[in-house]
Amino acid sequence: MLPSAPTLATTALVVLLLAVYFVLPPGPRGLPLLGNVFQVPSKMPWLKFAEWKAVYGAEGPIFSLNMAGQIIVVLNTHKENRRSTIYSDRPRFIMASEILTGGIFMIFANCGEVWRKMRRVAHEEFNPRAAEKYRAMQQRGAALTILDILQDPSSWEDCLKQGTAASILTAVYGWPRITYKDKSVVTRIHAHTARIAAAVVPGAYLWKREGLEWHEQETRMFQAFNAKVREKKRYHGLSEKESAWLAGIMLCISASLANVVLALTLHPEVMHKAQAEIDAVVGRECLPTFAHQSELPYLRALIKETLRWRPTGPVDPDVFPSPEDFIPERFLDETGVFDVIPPDTHGMGHVNFGFGRRICAGLHFANQELFIQVAMLLWAFNFETPLDNDGVPLAPPKGEYIDAGIVVVPAPFECKLTMRRTDIATMIMRELEG
Ligand code: HEM
Repeated sequence: MLPSAPTLATTALVVLLLAVYFVLPPGPRGLPLLGNVFQVPSKMPWLKFAEWKAVYGAEGPIFSLNMAGQIIVVLNTHKENRRSTIYSDRPRFIMASEILTGGIFMIFANCGEVWRKMRRVAHEEFNPRAAEKYRAMQQRGAALTILDILQDPSSWEDCLKQGTAASILTAVYGWPRITYKDKSVVTRIHAHTARIAAAVVPGAYLWKREGLEWHEQETRMFQAFNAKVREKKRYHGLSEKESAWLAGIMLCISASLANVVLALTLHPEVMHKAQAEIDAVVGRECLPTFAHQSELPYLRALIKETLRWRPTGPVDPDVFPSPEDFIPERFLDETGVFDVIPPDTHGMGHVNFGFGRRICAGLHFANQELFIQVAMLLWAFNFETPLDNDGVPLAPPKGEYIDAGIVVVPAPFECKLTMRRTDIATMIMRELEG
């Protein structure tokens, strides 16, 4: 895994070229020597990129920037990624990919020998067939997460973070499911993701010595993760250190789940429609399972719409009209039964998992986790905006995010989760024991 969304999707569209050999597309005028360094915001730079696309996009959605001598060409449309075989290498992120992650963090690695070995292993572990072997674990984990939330519904976000981290740790290191006691592990993983995500943004700065110390620390952390189980994961053809770091690729699936909760809170009509579909297909006497997935088109559309909507920011209005609106129906035909996949979205309906040969290697695992957790959440809870002391609804933020470099999560918001029936815990226990 890794970072979320339009974020990486946009980053994937950033291609570094050597100015010497190319005639550059137009771009904003900058300062002598420093170029556009002070014009590119360190937070959510893709919003600025979208503005520049409108200004300099007369000859196509491409413009160039000069970051103190480093030339960046921004391809501001995912359609250009049809040529991903030539554009799929990574630019040189000295701090993020060479110092902090020692050249062995797959997402930032150049398309060389180490990346090819890691990609092969990741494919073996997470291709569509291989990902199916994790389904039973993910289903059980999603039900256990509901039990965790029942203990304290106001801690739903922490429970989702812990639940998704637990799934990934089981899948990649073979750990038994972590519990609330292991909160520090979850915190460390999130801190790790945030640090490398922040270091990759153009203009981000960190002392080299500091970066090297972090790398040592993170290596110790991943190797300790790997050492915790009796049989260490040692992937074929990779060193122990490379294996430990490969397994360290974790994305905050939990950020996407928080976005689902935000969407449900803002759109009660969507929540009711999804719950009605689940009740009709799953019934109220058993829990949702992967066997129900093919019969839940609205739920599938809701998840696709969440991945498209947040943290998508400015997306191509020519692909998705009214991009800010939350409309799961855009992924369904007029019967509401058959999926509609807009063109240029790689058969998925959104581009959150990236493109071409660098497309997210964990996307099938991530999609499984999202499906079963969202199905379980909607089966168990209603999501409502809480009221303040004067009885006025505490409106959730509509477009506020926490930007941590290339990872974007919704700003904290209040959501009241209430049980849809009183015997949820008993039913879950019965299913888990049976
Ligand atoms: C909702 C959850 C997730 C999202 C939105 C996501 C998104 C992404 C994106 C945008 C990329 C970069 C693609 C590109 O450069 O074109 C990526 C790469 C990657 N992701 Fe994920 N990811 C998620 C979950 C996961 C999980 C759970 C795993 C592993 C179990 C995973 C493993 C990877 C790997 C190994 C890469 C590197 C691929 C490469 O560079 O060749 N991802 N992910």
